[in-house]
Amino acid sequence: MITVRAPGKLFIAGEYAVVEPGNPSVLIAVDRYVRVDLTPSVGKGSIHSEQYGRQPVVWYRDSNGIVVDHDMQPVDYILSSIATVEQLVSELGVTPRFYDLTVSSELDDVSGRKFGLGSSAAVTVATIGALNEFYDLELTRLERYKLAMLATIAVSPRASGGDLAASTFGGWIAYSAPDRGHAMTLRDERGVIGALRSDWDGLSVRRLAPPSALRLMVGWTGSPASTSRLVDNLQGRRWTDEVHYADFLARSRHHVEALITALDEDDAEGVKTAIRGARRTLGALDSAAKLGIETPALARLSDTAEAIGAAAKSSGAGGGDCGVVFVDVDADVSALLREWELSDIRHLALSVHPAEGGLDER
Ligand code: MEV
Repeated sequence: MITVRAPGKLFIAGEYAVVEPGNPSVLIAVDRYVRVDLTPSVGKGSIHSEQYGRQPVVWYRDSNGIVVDHDMQPVDYILSSIATVEQLVSELGVTPRFYDLTVSSELDDVSGRKFGLGSSAAVTVATIGALNEFYDLELTRLERYKLAMLATIAVSPRASGGDLAASTFGGWIAYSAPDRGHAMTLRDERGVIGALRSDWDGLSVRRLAPPSALRLMVGWTGSPASTSRLVDNLQGRRWTDEVHYADFLARSRHHVEALITALDEDDAEGVKTAIRGARRTLGALDSAAKLGIETPALARLSDTAEAIGAAAKSSGAGGGDCGVVFVDVDADVSALLREWELSDIRHLALSVHPAEGGLDER
């Protein structure tokens, strides 16, 4: 049996703007995992995923009618991962074989609620990892990220893939998404092998060092967001054509670049300033586009953190889920934790899943 685990992720800054190719973001991988077990089989393959099976498929309406929330359908991502690797295997002239996959996830808690840690991405990365071992493909991390991205955009063409990069590379990363249309064209024109071997417009990934004088705390406010709904709302209103959107992208870039510089220089105050700037930038987008990114609970999470001299913001799509806090390592956080308890904000005792090896290593 082959077992591969892939970590969940959290956005530190640059969410939403990262959907546009070439716009920077910062993410971390966290020590909560999706595990895929692969056993060879004969004649047919199967996918077992009890946790996901229990979850309902969520749908909603937009201006074009009923839309199914792809965040809630990891089986689509597993099937797309299998199809993408199978295409690669056939291009390489390797004989395809059958296998049974069993998925288990720590990214949902016992009652099945999601923490917004990117379970669709982690399941994609773990499936690609298991098939890489099964077929002895010896793919580098960058190639596995690219395969995961091709599999993901076949299901969700707007996804930035920041979660895939965090899950594949681990640790702290600076990430700009590729032009997904270009990536799909590469696959159509040159096959999966050709796409893996080509440079992707807009894609950039670099490891970052964590700030040594700051502790990262994560709070969860419940009521998980539907990422595709929030992103579709943003794009459905043609925000991309409006001046506000260009302004949002420029401001986001400014604060994320300041964050990256502060991390490179291990400048704790610079990190806090950039996090506050990123919070204000999302806030301006939120009030103009009425997305509901920073819910009252997320605002409370950040405001209570500010009250003890920390800097904080929502993480990822928002509308609930997690907020991230940067607090001085020697600060007393007991008052903050009490405030959170009173406000039903759950402190998630997460650590960063460490980075292992180079991006171009196997
Ligand atoms: C969702 O976790 C983050 C967004 O930036 C969407 C994406 O990156 O695909 C809102």
